[in-house]
Amino acid sequence: MPKGGIMNPKQKILELLREEEPGYVSGEYICQQLQVSRTAIWKTIESLRSDGYDIEARPRLGYRLLTSPDILDPAEWQTDIKTHIIGQTVRYYKTTTSTNEVAKDLARQGITEGAIIITEEQSKGRGRLGRTWQCPPRTGLCFSVVLFPRANPMEVPQFTMLAAVAVVKALYRTLGLRAQVKWPNDVYIEGLKICGILAEMAAEADRVKYVVLGIGLNVNQSKEDLVCFGNTATSLRVQLGRTLLRSQILKVLLEELDNLYTLWQQEGFLPLKGLWRDNALWIGNKVQVSGLNSNYQGTMEGIDDGGALLLRLYDGTIK
Ligand code: BTN
Repeated sequence: MPKGGIMNPKQKILELLREEEPGYVSGEYICQQLQVSRTAIWKTIESLRSDGYDIEARPRLGYRLLTSPDILDPAEWQTDIKTHIIGQTVRYYKTTTSTNEVAKDLARQGITEGAIIITEEQSKGRGRLGRTWQCPPRTGLCFSVVLFPRANPMEVPQFTMLAAVAVVKALYRTLGLRAQVKWPNDVYIEGLKICGILAEMAAEADRVKYVVLGIGLNVNQSKEDLVCFGNTATSLRVQLGRTLLRSQILKVLLEELDNLYTLWQQEGFLPLKGLWRDNALWIGNKVQVSGLNSNYQGTMEGIDDGGALLLRLYDGTIK
């Protein structure tokens, strides 16, 4: 539930309808619970219907929820979420430019730590290295998390790794799927990219002001939707052969992010380094790493205590 247990009228009505599912809830009972007029209830029901909820209204019986849409409105997932920090504050948009851009603005304005900015559609979704992030409306999970960690700017890559491990854990918990983290910040399934992470920050010389973690997870994209990535990407729908309820995956992912961020706050990066290594792709394999100005070839050894990649070069030295 959101901090302080405050739900908006939509969330409250959905909760009442779900408690009685598949039965009816009388209009009078809803009025009593929400302490508002019948007209206000009717308006909220209409608004829920325009969001895609199929709600039946029967004289003398009241209202009954028939089906729910696959939308990321917090009314769908925030009510019983088990987190302390992440996802307690939410900004939900049907469409926006880039959740990372919105999140950075809100971080500068001092939004609560753990706030998430989530959307059904991005017009300027951004990927790493100046690339765009493509995701057809209402198919994927595109969201950003605002953090205010007591950290040094050098430590920021650790949060990308934390997010990647959270995605791996969430996919296993919700779907039993084995995904792997790929340095520096992707998640792969069966050799194909399922999730990308874009971490951005503002910092002074030795202190982070904020970190924005942008996560793009491919959920219900079809094979055609993924053509823009070449043959390098997949989605949960392609992997499993069925469409999924994005809000359920989101909820578990936010819980995993919350657990791991709490672990980082209490114990630092060391336990996360172990988790990352346990789930990493290509450990012990020969790899080529391209930086902005340099290329290295060697065997992937793992990551160091700060989260930097460790490569054994062909002359035996560790870079
Ligand atoms: C990458 O693999 O290049 C990183 C992709 C990150 C995409 C996400 S979607 C939500 C957030 N908002 C953005 O504009 N980008 C990130």
